[in-house]
Amino acid sequence: MSNRWYSASAPGKFVVLGEHSVVYGKPAVVLATDLRIKCSVRRSYMNSLNGEKLDLYRQPHIKYLTRDVHYCLDFLTTSQVPSGSGMGSSAALSAAIALAISTEKGEEPSERQLVDESYGAELYAQGNGSPMDASACVHGGGIAINIPNTNNELWTIKRNDRTWRVSDIKVPDLSFVIGNTGIKAPTGPQVEKIRRFKEKSGFASEIIDEMGKVTLEGYSALRKNDKEKLGRLMTQDHKLLSILGVSCNELNKLVNASLPYSYGAKLTGSGGGGCMVALTDRPDKVAEAIASRGGTPIVINSGSEGARIEKSIADGKRMDIPLQ
Ligand code: PMV
Repeated sequence: MSNRWYSASAPGKFVVLGEHSVVYGKPAVVLATDLRIKCSVRRSYMNSLNGEKLDLYRQPHIKYLTRDVHYCLDFLTTSQVPSGSGMGSSAALSAAIALAISTEKGEEPSERQLVDESYGAELYAQGNGSPMDASACVHGGGIAINIPNTNNELWTIKRNDRTWRVSDIKVPDLSFVIGNTGIKAPTGPQVEKIRRFKEKSGFASEIIDEMGKVTLEGYSALRKNDKEKLGRLMTQDHKLLSILGVSCNELNKLVNASLPYSYGAKLTGSGGGGCMVALTDRPDKVAEAIASRGGTPIVINSGSEGARIEKSIADGKRMDIPLQ
């Protein structure tokens, strides 16, 4: 038995516009970040994760991704992506693990195969959702979903009665600052909250339709580099997300603190805690404002490379809260 390590990494992501409404087939614009998750695997006599016995019932993503692996594996992970915070940690982890496992098997998976694995793992773990995070974390750069005439379609994914057309987009030369509330909020319950609201009231569907329009307009502002318009639409999207019930006081506090120095700001990801994002020309001022209200600012570089094979081995430490 070869016990060589095989390593891969994938970037986290943030949503410029369109989280939650994308679950219902509306458009979204997402950028990969320079925060990555790395995973290394090797054959072993017992399943382990970062040096401890692996309990697959507590690690549903790994359980799904190893469903066709009939031997034991050691896993090592290192993460710069804060977990449960709307930055795509579960999709990035799934993409890195899927690529490391395929490489260990001697396969060379296509991006589409990695997206299917990663999306499958997320659905298995969280029950419902879109292939947005999986697509962004596998492909990297910038992606648009269900936006017509992007001219660079990557793949189409269908599930139940929904279709997501995923395209590659040029990464805009814009500066974004993330603010982490430090409150962990898993995605599944937030998605479920909106599903229940939508089932009970036509009003939720109207808000979701409105979010779709805001995202389409935002995409065309992004293409024209119209920061003022894009920022205004991001703030509007935050208000719509708040009406749907997925913001919280801490997110609103960080959004409001950023607004005087930003074109616009909104929660990013599933909400309920986690992170917000501001579009700004004054990242230092925004970072200061976020820190002064108790958040952790991260000045992000967007458009990083997607899932890739790595030469060095993950160090087995979960560096949960990043830098700066
Ligand atoms: O919070 P995250 O990083 O898991 O992002 C979730 C994005 C949602 O639109 C809320 C759900 C989805 O599956 O698209």
